Amino acid sequence: MKQRENPILVALDVPTAERAVRLAEGLSPHVGGFKVGLELLTGPGPRIIGVLARLGKPVFADAKLHDIPNTVKAAARHLGVAGARWITAHAAGGKAMLASAVEGLTEGAGARRAGVLAITVLTSLDQESLAATGVSASPGRLTARRARLAAAVGCEGVVTSVKELAVISDVAPGLVTVVPGIRPPGVSADDQVRTATPAGAMSRGADYLVIGRAITQSPDPATAAKEILATMNGRISGLR
Ligand code: C5P
Repeated sequence: MKQRENPILVALDVPTAERAVRLAEGLSPHVGGFKVGLELLTGPGPRIIGVLARLGKPVFADAKLHDIPNTVKAAARHLGVAGARWITAHAAGGKAMLASAVEGLTEGAGARRAGVLAITVLTSLDQESLAATGVSASPGRLTARRARLAAAVGCEGVVTSVKELAVISDVAPGLVTVVPGIRPPGVSADDQVRTATPAGAMSRGADYLVIGRAITQSPDPATAAKEILATMNGRISGLR
């Protein structure tokens, strides 16, 4: 495990900047960072990244970029300028596209530290749905190939399901792993199919956990975050 600080990245899946900022202000002392997804990036827009970053925690812009290299580079640069600590890009876009994402983000971030997290295989795709798109490899093999590609072009890490953590540590152990689909014991799975508990994901080698509704839809989000941290006691050290 490379991560030694608070591993919780809260997914702020809310429609307005006001709600995102209000939630983030209350949660900031108890979490490791914030994730903004397509809802905030296409609604309030990328400026929300800078607003959240001013709270002092890293902001992960889950933009899931996938286009020709030149366009991805420009978009990644904008996200870097906006203050993103991490951005996502689809490894399916190919080596040159991933490399352009890294280049653009690095340019945009300037002196600030920033890295690309590659999406290896969407967790919503199984073998059958991959085959229907013409991809015959199994999700595991595809993850391995794409993780190697991500590492080769200088991506900082990957977003991966808990199931694929072992594959990543086999083929590209230097990559940071960010795992969604996390549910504390006893909390509804909602629409997630493959879930893991926070402690379970950490013990299988996750560096960061993306946690959304289990925190944001709790009547008391800060307490929910603190309770999740408590369930991970002993699996992470040096918590801030
Ligand atoms: O509310 P919940 O904890 O399920 O939120 C998970 C977050 O992680 C959402 O923002 C979702 O878009 C994101 N995500 C995911 N599965 C993936 C990639 C991202 O759930 N494979």
